[in-house]
Amino acid sequence: MFHNISELVIRRMNYLESLDSKDRADGTPRMKRLRQIPPETGKFLSILAASAPNGEFLEIGTSGGYSTMWIALACIERGIKIKTFEILEEKIKLAKETFRKSKMTKYVELVEGDARDFLKEEKNVSFCFLDAEKEVYDDCYDLTIPNMVKGGLLVADNAINHYDTLKPMIDKALSDERVDALIVPIGKGELLCRKI
Ligand SMILES: C[S@@+](CC[C@H](N)C(=O)[O-])C[C@H]1O[C@@H](n2cnc3c(N)ncnc32)[C@H](O)[C@@H]1O
Repeated sequence: MFHNISELVIRRMNYLESLDSKDRADGTPRMKRLRQIPPETGKFLSILAASAPNGEFLEIGTSGGYSTMWIALACIERGIKIKTFEILEEKIKLAKETFRKSKMTKYVELVEGDARDFLKEEKNVSFCFLDAEKEVYDDCYDLTIPNMVKGGLLVADNAINHYDTLKPMIDKALSDERVDALIVPIGKGELLCRKI
């Protein structure tokens, strides 16, 4: 996947990486920042997404589309689309630009609005990346897990750097009999759940 990545995708990823580090350095207010995953988490997501069972691919929290593109590398291989949810207008605009400029629109569907309004209807989910406001993790987990296929993967970001805030949801996942789950110490810490 990484070896066949197009020049256009690399260029856009580099652009978003530089915007993200500028945001972090210059005191841009939190809600305006891109708050992207680091590249190693992107590679981890690509490999997991390429190995997930057949089904629907979801992402909750698009921001500028950086993590979406890492997951979409697996979608190219599989000939499928990822559906990604974003609530903020400014981020939606940037993400649209990302998918257009990197010629990835064939592999991405951007849904505008609160993911929680849509998740109940998303059946046969085989891969889901959860990276939204921490307050909605619990709802998103509860809405997604019942709709996942056997062997489906749910990955939640910030399981280590926001462990205290996410602890109730993380504890729930770790003791949930519907999934096998663990925290992977990569990037900001990924909670990885596999539907039994
Ligand atoms: C941490 S950023 C996502 C970063 C992105 N995954 C990446 O690595 O490039 C979180 C994003 O989730 C969006 N968001 C928060 N709550 C949401 C919700 N309920 N539904 C859809 N998007 C949401 C925010 O607007 C923000 O852009």
